[in-house]
Amino acid sequence: MSMTETILQVQNITKRFGGVTAVNNCSLEVERGSVTGLIGPNGAGKTTLFNIISGFFHPDAGKVILKNKDITGLSPDRIFKNKLFRSFQIARDYPEMTVLENLLLVPEEQLGESLFNSWFRAKVAQKQQNIFVDKAMESLRFIGLEQKKDLLAKYLSGGEKKLMEIGRMMMVDLDMVLLDEPGAGVPPALQKKFLGYIQNLSRERGLTLFIVEHDMDIIMNICDMIIVMRDGSMLTQGTPEEVRSNPEVIEAYLGSEGEKVV
Ligand SMILES: Nc1ncnc2c1ncn2[C@@H]1O[C@H](COP(=O)(O)OP(=O)(O)O)[C@@H](O)[C@H]1O
Ligand SMILES: [Mg+2]
Repeated sequence: MSMTETILQVQNITKRFGGVTAVNNCSLEVERGSVTGLIGPNGAGKTTLFNIISGFFHPDAGKVILKNKDITGLSPDRIFKNKLFRSFQIARDYPEMTVLENLLLVPEEQLGESLFNSWFRAKVAQKQQNIFVDKAMESLRFIGLEQKKDLLAKYLSGGEKKLMEIGRMMMVDLDMVLLDEPGAGVPPALQKKFLGYIQNLSRERGLTLFIVEHDMDIIMNICDMIIVMRDGSMLTQGTPEEVRSNPEVIEAYLGSEGEKVV
């Protein structure tokens, strides 16, 4: 038995927008349970690739394999049912409801109409509600928000709102999450704590995190593995140390709009 397992394989993906080839024969792999960063200069194709993996765009060529299953071209909903999701897929939060209620509404929404409208809904509702409350309380403890469970969400600070987002994410049974700039909007004083929670999610729950992030300090600190994209395909990959000292990576960045690696 091998010690590592691939959860996601991107195989020769190409995506064109008119004359622009946003993703160009891109292949990469993400290891199960890892925190993997996706970096690269502006226009490298990172966002487009995330959209393809999560089903929001159809590729012109290539395959996306999740847990050995071909998910290429499936709708975001179908891919979500395969336990992969993109951070913004959870519905907006509810400022006029309590923190606890905000978490409880996530599974409620995920259940969807079929179960919601079915005749046995009433029977299972109470039982599920209890399970969800336990789960929500556990999530709130995990992110250190249990004291604020009865506070209306609108009274949370900016940083606490970001924590609540993590809590809402924890209400869904997921294998893999694609995070788009998770550090954005987190006050510097809370940054380290916040990133610690993200890391713990992966460590303690085996959740695989694939993260696009511009802040190099963040990415270097929380990732096990970093994949570098340039011109629509993978330039290189390695540990933060390997990537940081790779001349090709430094050149890729210097050749762009002044983003820095170190
Ligand atoms: N919807 C779109 N229509 C046309 N061109 C697009 C679209 N989305 C992205 N592109 C182009 O594809 C390339 C890759 O963009 P993107 O995936 O956003 O890169 P990154 O996220 O790495 O900055 C860029 O040249 C961008 O202008
Ligand atoms: Mg982008």
